[in-house]
Amino acid sequence: MIQARTGLRTLTLAAAIAAAAAPALAAPPSAAPTPPMGWNSWNHFAAKIDDATVRAQADAMVKSGMRDAGFRYINIDDTWEGTRDANGVIHPNSKFPDMKALADYVHSKGLKIGIYSSPGPKTCAGYEGSEGHEAQDAQTYAAWGIDYLKYDLCSLGPRMIAAGSLDKAQDIELAAYKKMDAALKATGRPIVYSLCQYGVAQVWRWGGSVGGNLWRTTGDITDKYARMATIGFGQAGLSKYAKPGNWNDPDMLEVGNGGMNATEYRTHMSLWAILAAPLLAGNDLTKMSPETLAILTNREVLAIDQDKAGRQGDRVRAEGPLEVWAKPLSGGAKAVGLFNTSDQPSYVEVKYSELGLKGSAKTRDVWAAKDLGVLKGYRTLVPGHGVVLLRLG
Ligand code: GAL
Repeated sequence: MIQARTGLRTLTLAAAIAAAAAPALAAPPSAAPTPPMGWNSWNHFAAKIDDATVRAQADAMVKSGMRDAGFRYINIDDTWEGTRDANGVIHPNSKFPDMKALADYVHSKGLKIGIYSSPGPKTCAGYEGSEGHEAQDAQTYAAWGIDYLKYDLCSLGPRMIAAGSLDKAQDIELAAYKKMDAALKATGRPIVYSLCQYGVAQVWRWGGSVGGNLWRTTGDITDKYARMATIGFGQAGLSKYAKPGNWNDPDMLEVGNGGMNATEYRTHMSLWAILAAPLLAGNDLTKMSPETLAILTNREVLAIDQDKAGRQGDRVRAEGPLEVWAKPLSGGAKAVGLFNTSDQPSYVEVKYSELGLKGSAKTRDVWAAKDLGVLKGYRTLVPGHGVVLLRLG
C-alpha cells in the first residue's frame, strides 16, 4: 500500500515536471494520427438507419473481429436529425430516441461513435443543418459523447455559386468550416473532423488549415467497379497533401455490398490502403460473407493503410490499362500495387529501380500471404480488374 502510494506520488511528480518542461503551446495530439477506420451507415442503409440498426452494427463489429483488426468508429450519416427546440437545441428524430444512450452503448463495446451534419441550413437529404447553431450543435454532440463529425457542404453549394466569384465562394466555405472547427475545439472533447465537399476548390490544399482531419476528394462512390476505379486511380498526384492528422478521403468502402466481385473488392481495398485512405466499411456488418470479412480485415493490407509514417502512395507508371502504384512505409519498406484495369488477365511488371530502390528487396505477395524471395523486380499475371499487392522490405 505504502509502496503503491509512493509510486503514485512519484508518478504525479514526474508528470508535473514533464508538464512544466513541455512547450506552453504544444499542439494537442491529433484525433486522427492514422487514417480513421470504422463503419458508416450511408452506402448500405442510406435513410433506412435507426438506433437498433446502429447497435446491431456495433455488435457485429465486435463479434466479427473487426474491432480487433483496428476498426473503431460507428458513424451515423444523414437522416438522424429531428427539429430544434425553442432554445435552438437540435434533437434526433424518432428513429433515434436517445442519442446519449446510443453513444454509451457503442462506447461500452470499446468503440467510438460518429455523427453527420452540414454547414448549410439543410443536409444533403434535406434535414436540419448546423448553420447559425455551430457552437450549440458541437456542445450537444460532445454532451452525447460523439467522437467524429462528418460535415457535408450540401446546401451551402447554391449560395457559393450565387456568390459570383471563386474567391467569394471560397470565403463562404472557409468561414463555415472554420466556425465548426472552433466550436468542436471549444468542447474540449477530441472529435475527428471530416469535411465532405467532394474535392471542390482543391480542398486538399486547405482542408487542414480549417481544422479538417480528412476531406473528401471526390463525388460519391457507388458499388460499381468503374466508379470505384475512376475515384481510386483519380487520386494520382494528391499524395503530398496527406500526413498524420490530415488525410485525403476518396469516400467510404463498398466492400461486401454486392455490386463488385471479390477480385474487384480486393482492388478497392488495396488501392485505398496504398492511398492511406480512411477505411469506413459501408456494408451491413451483420450479414457479411467470410470472404467479405477476410477482405476487410486482412491484417497485412490494414497495416499498409495504417503505417505510422502516414505517407500516401501514388502512381509510379500507367501504360494503357496497367498501373503500378507504390506507397512508402516506415523503415524503408514499400507497398506496391500491380493493377490491371482491363477486364482480361494481363502480365504486369515492376522493376524495383523505378521505385527508387537500389538492388534487390525481400518481396511478399500480400493477398496470397506468400514470400516470393529477394528480387530486383517482379512480373506476374494479374486478373482482369485485379491487383497483385506486394510488400517490399
Ligand atoms: C452526400 C455525401 C454522402 C452522404 C449523403 C447524405 O453529399 O457525399 O456521403 O453523406 O450526402 O445525404
